[in-house]
Amino acid sequence: MRQVLITGAAGAIGSTLREGLRGRFATLRLLDSVPLGDPRSGEELVTADVRDLAGITEAMDGVDATIHLAGLAYEDSFERIRDINMTGTYHVLEAARRQGCARVVFASSNHVTGFYPVGQPIGPGAAPRPDTFYGLSKVFGEDLGRLYVDRHGLQVVRLRIGTFARSPPSPATSAPGSARGTPSTCSIAAWSPRTSAS
Ligand SMILES: NC(=O)c1ccc[n+]([C@@H]2O[C@H](COP(=O)([O-])OP(=O)(O)OC[C@H]3O[C@@H](n4cnc5c(N)ncnc54)[C@H](O)[C@@H]3O)[C@@H](O)[C@H]2O)c1
Repeated sequence: MRQVLITGAAGAIGSTLREGLRGRFATLRLLDSVPLGDPRSGEELVTADVRDLAGITEAMDGVDATIHLAGLAYEDSFERIRDINMTGTYHVLEAARRQGCARVVFASSNHVTGFYPVGQPIGPGAAPRPDTFYGLSKVFGEDLGRLYVDRHGLQVVRLRIGTFARSPPSPATSAPGSARGTPSTCSIAAWSPRTSAS
């Protein structure tokens, strides 16, 4: 794998990945709608909006794998969630298909299952119960990924992120049992044309 694209590279997770993945690939292409600073060795910077299919398709040229983080990372109006998170994710997957980008990692969220009662054990295969329009957009992104696997042969990794922190929180500052008291959490399912279940 030589060329990797990160969308939403100026954000909290994107900027952390930017540091952590530096030098791992021939090219790390970083995309965001806001400035990304100066390019460092092995980096290419792209200013683009995920609502612009042509711009995202151009940014995907020659890319082997994409980490899709760009979008609203919180609840907002249905219209903004639809345009940025849902249509934006469609544009990323469609651009990957058009440009032959083999793998897309999609940043999903625990809000996909946010309406399950606290304390009820569930696994990655539990039926979605989104708690917000934001959570619904992540259900959409996961299912759209599945469609692009089955219909177009892409490889899609659904990464359900719980809480991201740049470093583990100090036990002294976090309440027992709270989200702050646990390390960053996530569940992962990878889909490829050779697998049929999540
Ligand atoms: N941080 C968490 O704890 C967490 C938990 C679950 C899921 N996630 C998901 O991970 C991803 C990254 O989260 P984050 O915490 O880094 O968010 P963030 O808000 O820090 O970063 C999101 C980035 O997306 C960019 N962006 C927004 N709209 C855009 C558009 N229309 N076109 C191009 N770029 C656009 C923003 O400029 C920003 O740099 C998001 O998809 C979020 O939903 C995050």
